[in-house]
Amino acid sequence: MSLKVQLAKNTAAASHRIIICDKASAYAGFLSKEDAAQAKAAFDAKQPTYQSYSGGKSVTLVMVDNTRPEFKLKEDTRRAAYGVVKFLNGQKAGEASLENAAANKELGFALAEGAILSSYQFLKYKTKEVKPNTLVKLLVNENSLSKKELEELEIITKANLIARDLINEPLSYLTAEQLSKEIVKLGKDAGFKVEVFNKKKIESLKMGGLLAVNRGSQRPPTFNILEYKPSKAKNKKPFILVGKGVVYDTGGLSLKPTPNSMDMMKCDMGGAATVIGTMYAIAKLKLPIHVVGLIPATDNRPGEDAYVPGDVVTMMNGMNVEVLNTDAEGRMILGDALAYADKYKPELVFDFATLTGSAKAAISGLATAYMGTASDEIKKKVETSSKNTHERLVEFPLWEEYAPLIKSDVADIKNVGGPDAGAITAGKFLECFTTYPWLHFDIAGSAYLMAEDNYRGKYATGVGVRLMVDFIKNY
Ligand code: BES
Ligand code: MN
Ligand code: ZN
Repeated sequence: MSLKVQLAKNTAAASHRIIICDKASAYAGFLSKEDAAQAKAAFDAKQPTYQSYSGGKSVTLVMVDNTRPEFKLKEDTRRAAYGVVKFLNGQKAGEASLENAAANKELGFALAEGAILSSYQFLKYKTKEVKPNTLVKLLVNENSLSKKELEELEIITKANLIARDLINEPLSYLTAEQLSKEIVKLGKDAGFKVEVFNKKKIESLKMGGLLAVNRGSQRPPTFNILEYKPSKAKNKKPFILVGKGVVYDTGGLSLKPTPNSMDMMKCDMGGAATVIGTMYAIAKLKLPIHVVGLIPATDNRPGEDAYVPGDVVTMMNGMNVEVLNTDAEGRMILGDALAYADKYKPELVFDFATLTGSAKAAISGLATAYMGTASDEIKKKVETSSKNTHERLVEFPLWEEYAPLIKSDVADIKNVGGPDAGAITAGKFLECFTTYPWLHFDIAGSAYLMAEDNYRGKYATGVGVRLMVDFIKNY
């Protein structure tokens, strides 16, 4: 069960109250003298929350520090929500209320957002010892959240959790064809158009990269086109989102060194999940922007007919790629998708991909590495969205001096760039297939966490969805 948020007139009567405050006067009225003094001490010691409970009832003060910059203040509040949700589930509370008594009016949204994201559970495959959260309802005071904000909150958080669900699904369920079915279902629900190309169509389009990676598989690839085109779109040419849809990455014949490196590789369609979640949200929110999603999907496996190191693959745009490592498969399928994007004469193209261990090694799961040829103005907007959502970004350079690292002796380029700057040489590879302003987001670290990180959760984080919805909203 997930956490359902409802607006309520009277929130004071609830057995479990959550109150956001930024000064003692906000809560002095409804705590006992003794409690208020303790709360003040906690406040002065810069504790994020103070709890008073007795007889099955509780009041939780979320104490925010107004001197922090706005975006930190919002993040502090989301993160405090995680602790409150843990506490209330520990108390076996079913319902809680929320009031925002702080000066910043956006903190009600931030707290509810953090609470919903913290309440996520992936229980589909649990038959024993199932421990669903008890806290299933949050009554938010009407003064703390508008109807419109509530609707937005519900859509954006649902979109993030849809992405998490897709990533947490193992290959035993989520094959490329099943991924396409999920996309079709979500398109119907949210109101975006979906077209799925089968293997025959992919062959006729000469998507050599996608076909090469798929050769080791027992199952066909798919190429998915998601389109949301509102009648009053502000942009004449579409904005395109490309997502890596490797439903499982064994490395292919260049098999990943076992035992642990493959454990998380069901997450290799994380980029696809970002695109799907984003399309879901913008269609539901009816944002006035024309957006197209492109998702090449396959698993990457060794197999009798798998592509091999040394192979030369002709990509959709006619470029020849020397394959020196079959584990560098993401760029092979993305190269074709980026070439396909050309057909739309796009205004701007972003791609999301769990592309390199190098990006993860450089910045861990805390941030996404991004790079590309889009204007400084676009990069600035993306960074603003990054602050708004606290989905952190670090820009990597794409200097021309890196280009020689992927030059091939036998073909135009090779699919590996050597031991140094792996995230960047992967980006340089992708750049070869772009003819428009473009940004690449390497989410190899941030898409999937092996240890729980607050409201971002454990395992799939759904990273990129909140970032992109904010970006498109402010486009
Ligand atoms: N899917 C992996 C990257 C990855 C690593 C995602 C860790 C999530 C967590 C990608 O396909 C890959 O194998 N990249 C190789 C490229 C190398 C062979 C040039 C890598 O980063 O090691
Ligand atoms: Mn790989
Ligand atoms: Zn991969």
